[in-house]
Amino acid sequence: MTGILGSGTQKYAGSSQQKARLDFLDILLSARYEDGTGLTDLEIREEVDTFLFAGHETTASALSWTLYSLAQHPRHQDKVREEVNHLLSGRDDDTIHWEDLHKLPYLTMCLKEAMRLHTPVPLIIRSVLEDTVIDGVTVPKGFDVSIHLYGLHHNPAVWGPDHMEFDPSRFRPERVKDRDSHAFLPFSAGQRNCIGQNFALNEAKVLLARLIHT
Ligand code: HEM
Repeated sequence: MTGILGSGTQKYAGSSQQKARLDFLDILLSARYEDGTGLTDLEIREEVDTFLFAGHETTASALSWTLYSLAQHPRHQDKVREEVNHLLSGRDDDTIHWEDLHKLPYLTMCLKEAMRLHTPVPLIIRSVLEDTVIDGVTVPKGFDVSIHLYGLHHNPAVWGPDHMEFDPSRFRPERVKDRDSHAFLPFSAGQRNCIGQNFALNEAKVLLARLIHT
């Protein structure tokens, strides 16, 4: 790579114009198939579209809805702030370190409850490649099946009649362990589940903690 793209804030190694670190576009531009050909402009655009939607829009939505829910419920907001202030007390700045991420249990419960209530990806679709029997019903090959994650997160049989209420205690460990592991799937499940879920949760925790800290 000659470093034409995104060079504004990048460091270059020596005078060879070789970048010290490749950014997203560099990786796409330099990627090669087994036969040595690179991605077409259309393929590069499709990858950028995927990452902008899959990686950015979704996390922004999860964060916005968490802030909205905390604004609606000052009691929970105060508890999150108390937790963050306690974690950061005595420090010079509000940097959230890697080892802090598992020390924010209440904030994490609020984040998950907001993702349940306002599921960022409400619907996913799978194409049926062979006749498949689900609960005694044959879904023929060639059909598309919509899986309604928002509906899953609002199933009264699982979440109760108050499923429209913001109640972070649903994600207390003792309540989680009594629930089916597929009852809460904001990142989908199976072979094509979200590749960025840990990154997204960590990013959201850092931002929330820093926004709410006083
Ligand atoms: C709160 C944030 C996020 C949510 C709720 C979310 C949700 C999802 C869901 C539900 C799927 C499955 C789609 C399907 O089954 O058709 C998915 C796939 C995917 N996600 Fe995320 N995502 C989030 C953040 C991210 C981030 C930060 C990245 C990248 C850094 C990312 C990259 C992807 C990619 C590349 C796929 C496609 C995987 C595949 O098809 O094999 N996501 N995401």
